[in-house]
Amino acid sequence: MMPQTDAPDTTADALRTRGWQVMPGFLSNAAVDALAAECRALDAAAALTAATTGRGGDRAASTLRGDRTRWFEGDALSPAQQVYWDAMQTVRAGLNRRLLLGMQALEAHYALYPAGAGYARHRDRFRDSDARVLSSVVYLNGDWQADDGGALRLHLLDGPIDVPPVGGTLVLFLSEEIEHEVLPARRERLSIAGWFRRREIAGADLANS
Ligand code: OGA
Ligand code: MN
Repeated sequence: MMPQTDAPDTTADALRTRGWQVMPGFLSNAAVDALAAECRALDAAAALTAATTGRGGDRAASTLRGDRTRWFEGDALSPAQQVYWDAMQTVRAGLNRRLLLGMQALEAHYALYPAGAGYARHRDRFRDSDARVLSSVVYLNGDWQADDGGALRLHLLDGPIDVPPVGGTLVLFLSEEIEHEVLPARRERLSIAGWFRRREIAGADLANS
C-alpha cells in the first residue's frame, strides 16, 4: 500500500471553506524543468500565440493580458505534458469524491508572460457558460526570487493574497467566485493554466473556448 496523506482532504476542506488552496511541490523539479523547456522551445518556434479574451464574436486580442499561450491537446500530449495531466486527473478525482463538484474534463494551456506583462483583474468564467468549476495554475519557474514580482493576486473578501509563481506550486480556486490578477514580473514567467469543467451546457462553444 502507498502511504496515505491527508493532502486531498486538506485541499477539499480549503476549497469548501474559503475557495482556494496553494500546494507547493505539486510537481517535481524534473517535471517542472521538462515542461519549462518544452514551453520555451514552443515559444522559440513561434508556436505560442498572443492570448485573447472572450470567445466567439467577443473574441479579441487582449489589452487585459500580455501572455502568449498554447492549448494542450488531451489526445496528443507530450511526455512532459502527460506527467502534468495525470497529476491533475488525480486531483480532479480526489476532489470530485470529496466535494461532489462533478468535474468531468480538464482544459489547459501553457502561458508565457514576457517581463513586464501581466493580466488585469478578472474572473475565469465566460459570461455565457458555467462549465468552468475550478481554476488551476502550476508554475514552471525554477528559481523564482521574492523580488522578481509576478505574483498571482487573489482578491478575497478580507483582502488580497499574493502567491509567488514558484516552480512546482499548484494553485486552485473556484472559477466563479474568485477575482484574481497577474502582477507584472521582472523576468519571463511560465505557467500552465488549467480549468476543470463540468459537462458543457448545450449550445456552448467548446472548440473555441
Ligand atoms: C489565467 C490566470 C494566473 C496565473 O490564465 O486566467 O489568471 O498566475 N492565470 O498565471
Ligand atoms: Mn484567470
